Amino acid sequence: MILVTGGAGYIGSHAVLELLNSGYEVVVIDNLSNGALESIERVERITNKKVIFEHGDIRDSAFLKYIFSKYAILSVMHFAGLKAVSESVSSPLQYYDVNVTGTLELIKAMSTAGINKIVFSSSATVYGEAATVPYVESMPRGQSANPYGASKGMVEQIFTDLARADERWSIVLLRYFNPIGAHESGDIGEDPKGVPNNLMPYISQVAVGIREKLTIFGNDYPTRDGTCERDYLHVSDLAEGHVLSLSMLKTPGLYTFNLGTGKPISVLEMVLAFQRVAKVELKYEFGKRRDGDLPAFWADASKAKELLGWEAKRDLAAMIKDTWNWQSKNPNGYNS
Ligand code: NAD
Ligand code: UFG
Repeated sequence: MILVTGGAGYIGSHAVLELLNSGYEVVVIDNLSNGALESIERVERITNKKVIFEHGDIRDSAFLKYIFSKYAILSVMHFAGLKAVSESVSSPLQYYDVNVTGTLELIKAMSTAGINKIVFSSSATVYGEAATVPYVESMPRGQSANPYGASKGMVEQIFTDLARADERWSIVLLRYFNPIGAHESGDIGEDPKGVPNNLMPYISQVAVGIREKLTIFGNDYPTRDGTCERDYLHVSDLAEGHVLSLSMLKTPGLYTFNLGTGKPISVLEMVLAFQRVAKVELKYEFGKRRDGDLPAFWADASKAKELLGWEAKRDLAAMIKDTWNWQSKNPNGYNS
């Protein structure tokens, strides 16, 4: 049985779906601060399989003790956390509390229960501002521009020290690039609360008429068309990468993988592709640069291909088609 923390969130729910389809039994814990119970119910409907759900917080040691004593858990996928970069700047303590203290509580509860296999949701942000592209796992972590990124780097350091100190642990750090898209059913997807911070949910809310227009943050970057370039990958590819990464847990040690396509796409290219694929018009304007944005970064994803047999299979058109399918079927997300 696999414990999935944050399994009611965007990426976690897609991972739960792929785990069930691969034959795993799953227990989800989530405090629903940014997730939806409805996503779990829909995963059950899509897969025709049951998910055990327990409502609780990863910072609550008594709750974690109860979970590990009640269920025969073999390994953990740890998605639970806070992820809004700008919010992390205004509320740094909250971010360190959930992302760092929460992870420490989880590790302590796992240790007590004798469970030492974990896959962690890290981010390309840990490479820092000075790294050269494409990002390769062998590069050192860099300085992060915000508390969110710093919290991911701290957790990676904690896991690195733990693997060094205790040879029983098997730890996989998955560094996601920019996950977008939704399950091909259009029944689960990204459902941000309030105004979206990220590009793809913002575009799809403009497309569906919830927002008037997209502001493209900066068109004077040293890139092909002046707008920022990112490595967008389909969330279902990302979820499949998680399932494949479980094979690494058989051998103790610390393993780090980039999960991305290796192909940068600019903001403007994304907007034009969205219009073409979804056959909708998007109103957009060019605005000022957003603080802390890097001009361009993308993955060298060859290590995941070599060791996990993982490669992003879905192209940009599929990412857009599935985003639009989810958004148009559920204009107000899980509250539609
Ligand atoms: P999400 O907010 O949709 O999912 C996170 C889930 O964790 C939510 O369901 C939330 O309710 C739950 N949660 C938050 N704090 C909790 C707590 N204290 N106890 C229990 N549950 C809690 O975010 P997501 O996009 O699915 O991201 C999942 C993970 O991947 C996060 O750790 C995030 O930092 C990481 N990540 C995301 C991206 C991205 O672009 N979405 C990129 C890199 C890394
Ligand atoms: N963008 C716009 N307009 C918007 C939203 C975004 O032009 O309304 C642009 C951004 O400026 C950026 C690109 O679209 O150039 C992608 O922005 P996102 O916010 O979707 O993604 P980021 O690459 O900025 O953020 C990602 C992850 C974070 C992580 C960060 C580190 O979502 O978790 O990379 O660089 F911390």
